[in-house]
Amino acid sequence: MWKVQLFKLNYDKRESEAVKEVVDSGWITMGEKTKEFEKNFASYLGNDINATAVSNGTAALHMALLALNIKEGDEVIIPALTFIADINVVRLVGATPILADCKSYEDWNISAKSIKEKITNKTKAIIVVHFAGYPCDMDEIVSIAKEKNIALIEDCAHAPGAKYKGISCGRFGEFGCFSFFTNKNLSVGEGGMIVTKDKKLDQQAKYFRSHGMTALTLDRHKGRAITYDVIQSGLNYRIDEMRSALGVIQLEKLPDANNQREILVKEYHKLLKDTKKIKIPFLDIKDKKPSYHIYPILLDKDVDRVAVIESMKADGIQTSIHYPAFKDFSAFKDIELNGTEIAYTISKRELTLPLYPTMSLKQVKMVVDALNKALGNGI
Ligand SMILES: Cc1ncc(COP(=O)(O)O)c(C=O)c1O
Repeated sequence: MWKVQLFKLNYDKRESEAVKEVVDSGWITMGEKTKEFEKNFASYLGNDINATAVSNGTAALHMALLALNIKEGDEVIIPALTFIADINVVRLVGATPILADCKSYEDWNISAKSIKEKITNKTKAIIVVHFAGYPCDMDEIVSIAKEKNIALIEDCAHAPGAKYKGISCGRFGEFGCFSFFTNKNLSVGEGGMIVTKDKKLDQQAKYFRSHGMTALTLDRHKGRAITYDVIQSGLNYRIDEMRSALGVIQLEKLPDANNQREILVKEYHKLLKDTKKIKIPFLDIKDKKPSYHIYPILLDKDVDRVAVIESMKADGIQTSIHYPAFKDFSAFKDIELNGTEIAYTISKRELTLPLYPTMSLKQVKMVVDALNKALGNGI
């Protein structure tokens, strides 16, 4: 149906073979493949970090809040422009989400200034999201968190492989939380990773992943343990071996895939440079190595977004919106804008164009032509 879809898997026979190998091995739940995936992922982030593979990115965020003992009465600062998972997990642990605004219309990441303004004596954690794979201003954010003794969680769902001043995203806070959902840079269907440099927090995360148990099914299978103790309450947020096997392959492909994304983004930048009725964010990437997760644009105020989406759809181009505002969802109607007007405006005018590593430069041109037609710019 689509000439250019929003996202396409970067899979070949290596992925199928990796899954088949696991199935044929007779061990499919969390085991040695998962350990290999965790080890490789940790070393990709620069070692001396502990990685725990989990069932998805939302689980990683939930576990981070649980491990930091965030609970009722606490406030957690989150970006006003992000995926619903960030606000859901805060509410589900009983804490109050406090929204901070985007930095500007040029840089949609959470504003350090807005974070500062939102801190109260109830603030226990800050969640930042490296939007579209562009790292946040980590120098300023880390120093605020340190100064105020507030935990920092990086939602790295968009940012595997992204770096800020040469340091991998995921290494700056108490926890880094990654998603390996289908449309992510590293894709396994459903999966995630929670990383931390702190050994105690890592142990906590591992207990939350698997019912607070001291031994895994694998340990009993291997004869390393006869039974187990339960140290604390926990959940089942485990990943399985098929997904970890996909993760190992996808991680090997990630550096090249991210480079390919960069080439496509530069082509978009070049072709859209003088395009009327839109603005391109995140053009200033000083100190940053992005992972180029998505290609977001901002439509001018008077552009009818739905009409643009429909026109592009008629031309076979799939687009998306990152993200609808929280307050426009039924469950979050009570959320006040409260100084987050930039994020709200972006939510209303954002449009995401297709981007995936196997996309061709010709397809980028097709998208740009369809966009220009939809905007009435002529081609
Ligand atoms: C910014 C952000 N945070 C969290 C998540 C949740 O990840 P998952 O879908 O793996 O639970 C996603 C992706 O879906 C995301 O884009």
